[in-house]
Amino acid sequence: MQTLEAISKRCSLKTHLSKKPVEPEKIAQVLDAARLAPSARNLQPWRFVVVQGDEAVAELANAFNETNQEVRNAAVIIVICAREEDDVTRDGKPYFLFDAGLAVENLLLAATELGLVTHPILSLDEGETRRILEIPDEYRVVLATPLAYPVESSYDEAAEERLRERIRKSLDEIAFYGKWEKRGTV
Ligand SMILES: Cc1cc2nc3c(=O)[nH]c(=O)nc-3n(C[C@H](O)[C@H](O)[C@H](O)COP(=O)(O)O)c2cc1C
Repeated sequence: MQTLEAISKRCSLKTHLSKKPVEPEKIAQVLDAARLAPSARNLQPWRFVVVQGDEAVAELANAFNETNQEVRNAAVIIVICAREEDDVTRDGKPYFLFDAGLAVENLLLAATELGLVTHPILSLDEGETRRILEIPDEYRVVLATPLAYPVESSYDEAAEERLRERIRKSLDEIAFYGKWEKRGTV
């Protein structure tokens, strides 16, 4: 699969996670993709906590809000943290979170290419996640995603539907040419 194909096929499907074990090499590949993301001043503020095993996943799931309890069905959950000190704030804009976001997108795309399902989730209790995973205070918990093989029987149809119904602003709404609000094409 090429990058553009992975971009077009990636979708969030927490409803279709399975407990089928994810090979350690695949987990390493998605982490490596995340690790290779660019970052401001190359500070690489990200850290990743890989949680696997039924008991550990169930314990961590307690930190997620009730609308995200499907994460219990995943073989793996990856929690993405970022170190606030590794930040280049410009004009009040903190870039350590932006950098972490770049790493997350690499991770999601690599997972898609490897046939794994993901779903970025921010609705989790930071303090509880920190406590369960023993994350030090200097790191913010940015996001988590399940990483799992899809439920084979129903995944293809669900993914097709999600991609078909994907809501995105049109280029006309978000891209300008030459000057702000100047419509046109490349
Ligand atoms: C930073 C971020 C936080 C998100 N948090 C949640 C969340 O807490 N719960 C949830 O169900 N989905 C969450 N999502 C998933 C988005 O709803 C989803 O990416 C969006 O609807 C687009 O769908 P797609 O990923 O399938 O293209 C989050 C996505 C991002 C990027």
